[in-house]
Amino acid sequence: MDKIEEIKKLIEEKTSNISALDELNNLKVEFLGKKGIITEYQSMIKDIPNEEKKEFGMKVNEVRSLFNTKYEEIKNRLEAEIINKKLEDEAIDITLPSVKINIGSANILEKLIEEIEEVFMSMGYDVVDGPEIEEDKYNFEMLNIPKGHPARDAQDTFYIEGEEILLRSQTSPVQVRTMLEGEGVTPIRMICPGKTYRRDDDDATHSHQFMQIEGLLIDKNISLSDLKGTMEVVFKRLFGSDVKVRFRPSYYQFTEPSVEVDITCSTCKGKGCNICKNTGWLTIAGAGMVHPNVLRMSGYDPSIWSGFAFGFGAERLAMLKYNIDDIRVFYNSDLRVLRDFDREDEE
Ligand code: DAH
Repeated sequence: MDKIEEIKKLIEEKTSNISALDELNNLKVEFLGKKGIITEYQSMIKDIPNEEKKEFGMKVNEVRSLFNTKYEEIKNRLEAEIINKKLEDEAIDITLPSVKINIGSANILEKLIEEIEEVFMSMGYDVVDGPEIEEDKYNFEMLNIPKGHPARDAQDTFYIEGEEILLRSQTSPVQVRTMLEGEGVTPIRMICPGKTYRRDDDDATHSHQFMQIEGLLIDKNISLSDLKGTMEVVFKRLFGSDVKVRFRPSYYQFTEPSVEVDITCSTCKGKGCNICKNTGWLTIAGAGMVHPNVLRMSGYDPSIWSGFAFGFGAERLAMLKYNIDDIRVFYNSDLRVLRDFDREDEE
């Protein structure tokens, strides 16, 4: 009996500084294994005289349950410690800066075109499309540029089939197509952004493929001052409200009179710099009043209808707005350059 009391002490002692599960399991073997201390006493029961058997049995059970209670207690504690340690080790530091994920974004030229579309749409213009593979008839003839006319030489055209099918050298044929759809009776307000092609050698300011934005307004009593007002709205929105617009006389076959549209230099604000070749002005569009022949050929009676037309080079506008000095940037898809503009947008 006394021995059993000693076992209790031994249990208390041995369980007091267990720090790992395998130690605990070894202890279990030591007390409850086949040759364990408690097991030994248990097997003694049969040899105990009957009158003491009950008490002895109860004592042995007592130490056994004491050990089991201790065992469970320690096991739970150690397992909890293991889980906590694991959680600690695997914890994610959500304050760390994340890896930057690259996502696509609209090309800078595309963004500028969208901006211009917004401005025109706010003035009631439709944005229309036309074919890039075009007929000579629309690209030249119905724009008052007959076969053999010297003006054709200036637009070094890619012909696809004979003399009739070509890659459009300007977006102006979409004027003709829109007027034909208007059937000579509908007022027109449209812009057409689109790709155009010329047999130019590519360099910093030339590209065999480029984007134009064509515009056409046909209504009654339209004058050059309507064109001027429209250009002012557009360029002030694109380049800032202090921008001034001026017209210089020019010559296009499909407009009469024709003008070059200049704006005050976006870089030096008109003071003079190398971008504007010290003139303070940048030529930014060709425009004019739609020629009576063009109106007539497309079914609009020039004694009733009048209108203006204009054509912007989208790359030129983007180059000025974003200070780009090489047109090839738009087509080379150099991510290092394009990402710079994304960053500019984010700022
Ligand atoms: N299509 C002309 C070009 O490519 C630009 C242009 C000038 C368009 C005057 C027009 C315009 O509609 O009225 O050079």
